[in-house]
Amino acid sequence: MITLALYNIKGGVGKTAGCVNLAYLAAQEGKQVLIWDLDPQGAATFYFEETAKIKGGIKKLLLGEAPLADAIKPTAFDNLSLLPADFGNRHIDGLLDDLKQSKKRFKSLVAQLQGHYDYLFIDCAPGVGTVSEAIFAAADVVLFPTIPTTLSIRTWEMANTFFTDNQLSTNKLYAYFSMADIRKTMHNDTMAQFYRNKQFLKNYIPYLSTIEKMGSHLAPVAHFAPSSYAAQCFRDLWKELKKQLG
Ligand SMILES: Nc1ncnc2c1ncn2[C@@H]1O[C@H](COP(=O)(O)OP(=O)(O)OP(=O)(O)O)[C@@H](O)[C@H]1O
Ligand SMILES: [Mg+2]
Repeated sequence: MITLALYNIKGGVGKTAGCVNLAYLAAQEGKQVLIWDLDPQGAATFYFEETAKIKGGIKKLLLGEAPLADAIKPTAFDNLSLLPADFGNRHIDGLLDDLKQSKKRFKSLVAQLQGHYDYLFIDCAPGVGTVSEAIFAAADVVLFPTIPTTLSIRTWEMANTFFTDNQLSTNKLYAYFSMADIRKTMHNDTMAQFYRNKQFLKNYIPYLSTIEKMGSHLAPVAHFAPSSYAAQCFRDLWKELKKQLG
């Protein structure tokens, strides 16, 4: 199983859009895919028309008192399952803080899924805390959707520093440009500058209204608009990412 976390300290950069669309493409290829919505906002959960609630609460799952499998729901799409958000997730940083060896514990939770799924996609909440640190340690790939502006690049650089300072391998850090508008000089210049960095994937996701429409279709773009430019962009990105994963 390959664990990919869609993460950025910044909010509203396209983490959930990336998570849902890339996971859907993997599932369409016949792979068994699970999305774990670890953002209490529950946007990924909403896209799959699920309730942001875990029976018995997230705490039991984290403590290993209930198996993750009990909380997993099928989606309307073949091979794609969902571990929904729980509004109780908003305390999950505190819960993990109280646990000894929280990173190890989180890693062993993820290990429960081994053998059942080919890909685990984690939709992370914005910000940085105990949960994101646990995710960084457990994930094989931490993928940063990055809007090509100076401030977004700064958060990317902060993440790289954080990884280095915490003995995490920066080899698992990848980024792609999200919501890019190549008519904007700043976007163009930033992209040109950062493409020299090998951690940045070459394919990018432009700012496209088709992607915004996921909220009304409640489906990935490749499902409701398979021949759209947006769907093609996600397919190209997924292809490139798979190549990187080997
Ligand atoms: N490439 C894009 N083009 C246009 N709209 C987009 C694009 N990507 C995402 N959006 C829209 O922008 C909003 C934020 O996107 P998304 O929810 O994926 O970001 P996020 O990083 O997960 O946000 P949060 O930090 O709140 O979890 C959503 O309404 C989404 O539909
Ligand atoms: Mg999100």
